[in-house]
Order: sequence, then structure tokens, then C-alpha cells
Amino acid sequence: MIRAAIRAPDHAWLRPWRFLAIQGEKRTALGSILESGLIGRNPNADASAREKARKSSFRAPLVLVVITRLSEHPKVPFVEQRMSAACAAHAILFAAQALNYAGVWRTGDAAFDRSVMTGLGLGTDEEIAGFIYLGTPNGPAKTIPTLDPDDFLSHW
Ligand SMILES: Cc1cc2nc3c(=O)[nH]c(=O)nc-3n(C[C@H](O)[C@H](O)[C@H](O)COP(=O)(O)O)c2cc1C
Repeated sequence: MIRAAIRAPDHAWLRPWRFLAIQGEKRTALGSILESGLIGRNPNADASAREKARKSSFRAPLVLVVITRLSEHPKVPFVEQRMSAACAAHAILFAAQALNYAGVWRTGDAAFDRSVMTGLGLGTDEEIAGFIYLGTPNGPAKTIPTLDPDDFLSHW
């Protein structure tokens, strides 16, 4: 999955991403960081919200944190670096599916919370592009609406 991620399109080969794998008991520490982040953002968060935040790290056996590493470059604005990280995250989802795993990309307020980033060891030049929850599917695939490509393509 990481091999797929690091093949993401990457203007000027900045490698504007890195990945943190959090699994097993380390998810307890991640849960604490997520709970602390929630309390920092909302000191009035009630017990159930705190518990939800704390347990969210246990949604899947493996949480891959996709991190965008921003660096100044005359030809590569930050938006392109963020897009490259998004491509890396998507590649992880494709690779997971190809390997018969399942993944969900999640963000939410925690992903944009600097205290969460610091707790995970990110530098000030880094951001969370997403938490990718990965595991073996344990139920039927959900049904999703079928989209018609013609609704999204026009010829100019
Ligand atoms: C940047 C980004 C952030 C997302 N954040 C969330 C999220 O916080 N919670 C969520 O349920 N889905 C989130 N999603 C959507 C899911 O990853 C997934 O695409 C969605 O559950 C639909 O599943 P499907 O793509 O298999 O249809 C996010 C997607 C992207 C691209």
C-alpha cells in the first residue's frame, strides 16, 4: 500500500507526504490524543462524545495517517502538494482493495487540530491529509449509487 502511495503524482519530486502506521495497542494512545483534542476544541464535550473520540481509533486494526509535508517551492504551490498527498491516500485505498482489504478515509475536526498533529509528532510544516482506517472487510460491501459518467463529462 505504501509502495502505491509513493507513486503518487508529485510535481518536482518534492515527496510531500509521509505515513504513520498506528496499530494494536498504539491505538489507545491515538485515542487519548483524539480525546484530548476534542476537549481542547470543546471543553464542554460530554462523556459520550469523549468516549466516542477515544474509541474512534479502534474502528479498524490499522490506522494509516497520511501526512502532507509542505515545503516552499517556486513552482509547486501548497495546493499541489496537498493534492499529491490526496493522490497518495487514494492510492492506499486502491491498493487496499486490490489486496482484499477495506479502507475508509476520514478527516473531521481532529484531522485539522494542531494539538492532534503535535501529539502524533508532526512538525509545523506538516498536516494531516487523512486517517485511513484499514482492515479486513467484515460485512457485505455497501451499495452505492451508480453514477453515469456522461453526467460529469462534457465536450468543450
Ligand atoms: C478528504 C476526505 C475526507 C473524508 N472524510 C470523511 C469523514 O470524516 N467521515 C466519513 O465518513 N467519510 C469521509 N470521507 C469519505 C470516505 O472516505 C468514503 O469515500 C465514503 O465513506 C464513501 O465511501 P466510498 O468512497 O467507498 O463510496 C472522506 C473523503 C475524503 C476524500
